[in-house]
Amino acid sequence: MTWLITGGAGYIGAHVARAMAESGERVVALDDLSAGVPARLPADVPLVRGSSLDGELLKRVLAEHEVSGVVHLAARKQVGESVDRPTRYYQENVGGLATLLDAVAEAGIRRFLFSSSAAVYGNPEADLITEDTPCAPVNPYGETKLAGEWLVRAAGRAHGIATVCLRYFNVAGAAAPELADTGVFNVVPMVFDRLTRGEAPRIFGDDYPTPDGTCVRDYIHVADLAEAHLAATRRLSAGDAAGDLTVNIGRGEGVSVRELVTLIGEVTGDRRPAVVEPRRPGDAPRAVASAERAAAELGWTARRGVREMVESAWRGWRLHQGR
Ligand SMILES: NC(=O)c1ccc[n+]([C@@H]2O[C@H](COP(=O)([O-])OP(=O)(O)OC[C@H]3O[C@@H](n4cnc5c(N)ncnc54)[C@H](O)[C@@H]3O)[C@@H](O)[C@H]2O)c1
Repeated sequence: MTWLITGGAGYIGAHVARAMAESGERVVALDDLSAGVPARLPADVPLVRGSSLDGELLKRVLAEHEVSGVVHLAARKQVGESVDRPTRYYQENVGGLATLLDAVAEAGIRRFLFSSSAAVYGNPEADLITEDTPCAPVNPYGETKLAGEWLVRAAGRAHGIATVCLRYFNVAGAAAPELADTGVFNVVPMVFDRLTRGEAPRIFGDDYPTPDGTCVRDYIHVADLAEAHLAATRRLSAGDAAGDLTVNIGRGEGVSVRELVTLIGEVTGDRRPAVVEPRRPGDAPRAVASAERAAAELGWTARRGVREMVESAWRGWRLHQGR
């Protein structure tokens, strides 16, 4: 069987494409290259340049490559931009998904994996966030992911498609330097960016009700995340065991921003002290996954720790900076 990976030239998509190809799956990637980098893909994974909004192209790709399962990662993912341009986020993330699901249903494809996010939860009080914690996204990006989950489940029920929604927590690291995240939207590349400019890392708020006063997050190595996709696609291929599954993908361990910045100082050798700035609106004090359902349902648990994430991300950052 062949899997279509949308957003396959992206940071996470390329890791998933590589892990699936290495495990012997046939894979084809689709990416509009708005943020993707074709060189990230292994040589034996064909790349179709195009958008998830292009229904005719999708139908052609599904037929020509005899696709029998889809991993849908293509999306816009910048929270701030989603606040400024909500219609674009709904068009791309929800509209693109609807177009894709139509093509999937028409082609008779019965396996679908959707890339969701911890952003669906918003700012819950829970010590450990389970999949039953109420979803209350606090920005349009998170809303499009929650609406996407609803749409995936509804289409699954209507067309007999087995579906999995993976809610990723904070993704970091790289399986190889050339696969690293080149954007500066997440905390690890943001700190690298400051250090590279000779500036102190910034911490937004140190008066939260957490052990050291800074926000606590659950970081997941992108190579572990790729393995979670492998486990999920295997479950989808198992037929009977399939259905509709929603799982958190995290480590179940909280790391504070201050701990992370200290670790980045150790790894990079640049230990300049962080400057503390005011809290950013909308930041939750703590967002840590319960990883129990992923272990029970997918037989998957994260193996790599935060130091490995920072070290591998730093190797990738240096490669991209030419240092
Ligand atoms: N990086 C994270 O921490 C994180 C956390 C939770 C969820 N996610 C989700 O994971 C997925 C992948 O994220 P990423 O970090 O790899 O981002 P990314 O921007 O590196 O990858 C997204 C890819 O999709 C492509 N793309 C965007 N819109 C498209 C469209 N309409 N048609 C075809 N291709 C399109 C882009 O060119 C890019 O290559 C996204 O759905 C994102 O919302 C990411």
